[in-house]
Amino acid sequence: MRQKICDLSELAELSGKEFSVEKNEQNQDAFLIYFKQHCYAYENSCPHTGVNLNWQAEQFFSFDGLFLQCSLHGALFEPESGVCVRGPCVGSKLKAVNIEIDDGIVFCDK
Ligand code: FES
Repeated sequence: MRQKICDLSELAELSGKEFSVEKNEQNQDAFLIYFKQHCYAYENSCPHTGVNLNWQAEQFFSFDGLFLQCSLHGALFEPESGVCVRGPCVGSKLKAVNIEIDDGIVFCDK
């Protein structure tokens, strides 16, 4: 079953949307980002300690807008791949969430 996250038209460059997905019969925090006119979605769980990456609602990008950044120890992740390129979990990867865009609406698998 798929779940609506938002309308594509709501997403500005470098914006983020928090949502949750069901995982092992529990809700898992997740987020959607819009980067270089593409959508990507990941579980909101830093590979270092498992905390949510963001410290402010719907803010996931580093100051320069080039990376996703964990608010706790500053790990930087490539937006397109979720790979950590700097920080304590370098080389590890955010877990991707499957999304699809249908008729201007962004959905994830629930
Ligand atoms: S918890 Fe994310 S870098 Fe340490």
